[in-house]
Amino acid sequence: MVVYLTGFMGCGKSSVGRRLARALGYAFADTDHLVEKTAGKGIAAIFAEDGEAAFRHIEREVLQRTADMNRTVVATGGGMPCGEGNVEFMNAHGAVFYLKSSVGRLMGNLLAGDRSRRPKIAGLGNEELCEYVRTTLAAREERYAKATFTVECDSRSDYGIVAEIAACVAERQGGGAERVVTRPMREEEVPLLAEFLYDAIWQEDGAQALPRSVIRHPEIWAYIDGFETAEGDVCVVAEVSGVIVGAAWARRMHGYGFVANDMPELAVSVRRQWRGRGIGTRLVRELLMTLRDGGCKGVSLSVDRHNPAVEMYRRLGFGVVREDDSGYVMTLML
Ligand code: S3P
Repeated sequence: MVVYLTGFMGCGKSSVGRRLARALGYAFADTDHLVEKTAGKGIAAIFAEDGEAAFRHIEREVLQRTADMNRTVVATGGGMPCGEGNVEFMNAHGAVFYLKSSVGRLMGNLLAGDRSRRPKIAGLGNEELCEYVRTTLAAREERYAKATFTVECDSRSDYGIVAEIAACVAERQGGGAERVVTRPMREEEVPLLAEFLYDAIWQEDGAQALPRSVIRHPEIWAYIDGFETAEGDVCVVAEVSGVIVGAAWARRMHGYGFVANDMPELAVSVRRQWRGRGIGTRLVRELLMTLRDGGCKGVSLSVDRHNPAVEMYRRLGFGVVREDDSGYVMTLML
């Protein structure tokens, strides 16, 4: 499969693309580099000597060649989706992910980067740049939105963005038939907990999605702040074909589900497209076993009353010990 990454200049297509390729075991290609190789000169020189139309012509040619690249992540130039038929071509030949970013995030990245190699913005002062990003993004949004998948990038690490796309690709490749493995979380995977923390917040289907920054609320962030894979913090993950699709963790804390100092609070989260396959139940079972082996006498959790996970917890033996407007606090003695 070819995985195309699209989005405005500075949204992180190249850095996410390289990491994603590594995560999937794919090759990596960048259409800007392919254009430069084809033309035998840099992008700035193509724009200056031959004009933007010549650049767009080569860009389109290069795109057509990418369709034959198997198992490759292709980062595309920011203007690629604006060329007639280009998004449609990408959607037809691979999986297209639009890395959606706010003007603020793009500005932060563009100001930190080297503007001289991007002819569209090379000569602009900071205020002009902001105006350019605002108006051009608004004008292009409709084209970007034609990608099959949109990935919200604000308030997220590259790691999290890569995890979401990798899970989607695994699913598309028929990951449903693949083996789900549960195992302890490794230290280098801890940054993923921010992703799972967001997914663990119950949101009604069809309701306006909460901004990702909600996890930075101190009472929520406390669930993963300084998380260790030892010393009382315990986390198990579910992995499919090298991609982590779920996590269940426990830590001693005074969170929404606090009951007693010696009873850690439990949280579990499975990527949306992997729900409904018993992965959450497996994760919680494995976590409970690990906690019991470590001498823990019981766990507690807080759950929204509308969250279908309430039933899973009941099946696993959890009982309600407290109830308020939004939900239940449940416990299980081990
Ligand atoms: C462009 C974006 C650039 C490059 C060219 C034009 C654009 O790619 O293709 O300078 O029109 O937005 P990046 O998004 O990789 O900077």
